Amino acid sequence: MATLRLGDTAPDFTAESSMGTINLYDYLGDGWGILFSHPADFTPVCTTELGTAAKLKDEFDKRNVKMLALSVDGTASHVEWIKDINEVQNTVVDFPIIADEDKKVSDLYDMIHPKADNNLTVRSVFIIAPDKTIKLTITYPASTGRNFHELLRVIDSLQLTAYHKVATPANWKQGEDVVVSPAISTEDAKKMFAKGVEEVKPYLRMTPDPSA
Ligand code: BEZ
Repeated sequence: MATLRLGDTAPDFTAESSMGTINLYDYLGDGWGILFSHPADFTPVCTTELGTAAKLKDEFDKRNVKMLALSVDGTASHVEWIKDINEVQNTVVDFPIIADEDKKVSDLYDMIHPKADNNLTVRSVFIIAPDKTIKLTITYPASTGRNFHELLRVIDSLQLTAYHKVATPANWKQGEDVVVSPAISTEDAKKMFAKGVEEVKPYLRMTPDPSA
């Protein structure tokens, strides 16, 4: 499978999970999705990641983002491990973990990087828009747990920029000023953004977050 790139259609699949059989497209419906792999069940960093993700499920729900985790362990392993996660992270994992024992989904999404590990998935992240295109890919090594607040921040940017002609600057957080899309003239931007436009440079125009 070729590497999936931004704008590519997220390949559909049907797979077993900790919550039964899942078809990706049916599961996502017309909402957004985050598909993220981890190397293995009953491992320390993964336990903290899945617990952290579970605690933030309300935040993903608020943004209409369905969560879907994956590793190459089986469903029985996932179900047992979820009990541990719930216990040690004081949470309830309330989203499915795909049991990709035959590596079908891992191969489809290029989640196994043989020079990192021949058999286990790396920490891949795919954010999928309602039209099923891939809007973000990130890959972390097994040794580095992900920052799920950063993933929510990126989703805020993706959702804002999908509906407004803006881009978000470095370290932007919801509610902060945004950048006017370079494709729009300052004159047009002033008509488009009622909250005002500041021209810092002809190519750098700021406006308040239009969704705030
Ligand atoms: C972990 O989740 O702690 C982990 C998993 C695989 C390799 C290294 C660390």
